[in-house]
Amino acid sequence: MYKAADNRYGTMKYRRCGKSGIHLPEVSIGIWQNFGSASGKYEDQKAVLLRAFDLGITHIDMANNYGPPYGSAEETFGRVYASDLKPYRDELILSSKAGFDMWPGPYGNWGSKKYLIASIDQSLKRTGLEYFDIFYHHRPDGGTPIEETCEALEQIVRSGKALYVGISNYGADEARRAIEELERRNVHCLIHQPNYHIMNRWIENGLQQVLEEKGVGTIAFGPLAGGMLTGRYLNGAPAGSRRARDGWGGLSEEELRKIKKLNEIALERGQTLAQMAIAWVLRDEKVTSALVGASSVAQIEENAAAVANTEFTKEELELIDAAIK
Ligand SMILES: NC(=O)c1ccc[n+]([C@@H]2O[C@H](COP(=O)([O-])OP(=O)(O)OC[C@H]3O[C@@H](n4cnc5c(N)ncnc54)[C@H](OP(=O)(O)O)[C@@H]3O)[C@@H](O)[C@H]2O)c1
Repeated sequence: MYKAADNRYGTMKYRRCGKSGIHLPEVSIGIWQNFGSASGKYEDQKAVLLRAFDLGITHIDMANNYGPPYGSAEETFGRVYASDLKPYRDELILSSKAGFDMWPGPYGNWGSKKYLIASIDQSLKRTGLEYFDIFYHHRPDGGTPIEETCEALEQIVRSGKALYVGISNYGADEARRAIEELERRNVHCLIHQPNYHIMNRWIENGLQQVLEEKGVGTIAFGPLAGGMLTGRYLNGAPAGSRRARDGWGGLSEEELRKIKKLNEIALERGQTLAQMAIAWVLRDEKVTSALVGASSVAQIEENAAAVANTEFTKEELELIDAAIK
């Protein structure tokens, strides 16, 4: 029987999520890739999740269609939860989402009330949880009125299926509309989950201002650009890596030139490139947590250690900006 490490709160740091009572670990783990039943061995997947918790990573992020096949990452989590993590339920922030393709027909995608309510019910069954801590609408849906999507999120909170709600991939104006519609319903939007990393800074052009003004936290997904901002592809695309699996192969010459420069800056800071990339999204308090993926215990250990140094000098930030030009 698993017993969590006694020192699990020794080194991880926690940040308040916007204007709320919730603190998230500076590094959170997501199970989009590597945790499906077709993505690897269950024992390896379980080892990564338990090591993450032992490192103080109290937040695990899921979605209905993570796998492959769809749903199976939630089932993997559910197995680990039933066998090992259940005694620690009150130490965990567990999230899921709906908004992308999940089941056939017109009710298994986007942002209708029909889809969101059915999806969270399915996710609760697959994970064996009584409730999620956070439930997200996974992407904006230009077709469904935002009032309907927010009505579904409100119902999810009122019925106790999730404690908090969030939005993901919403642009600045879309986010404002959703946050204000939720406000109108006396539901606070806890968090926004956008993509953000050294090479993708779109949230700095408007979205961050909206979230700050509204007291909504930010969890930056993909801070490693899927592995590009790590040592993984410095010498081609190793067998089993995401780019090899997806058939993309190694980085282009231009990408490699930038990554090598970034790698040098990281080494000067006494960090690996992965650690510097995580630290970079955490360099000020606007971002609550960096949401990483990991395919091994060694990766999550390396990533969690990034919190030891999230401060940058002006010169380092300028060097990083110059490296990706
Ligand atoms: N809301 C959304 O629309 C959305 C979209 C995408 C992701 N997400 C969330 O964000 C999470 C993270 O996404 P992501 O996996 O793309 O993020 P990421 O952290 O940018 O990339 C993770 C990948 O980088 C590699 N990696 C991680 N740590 C490493 C290390 N220390 N050294 C070398 N390589 C390392 C691994 O690739 P290998 O597998 O090759 O080892 C790992 O699978 C997802 O699980 C999900 O929860 C949300």
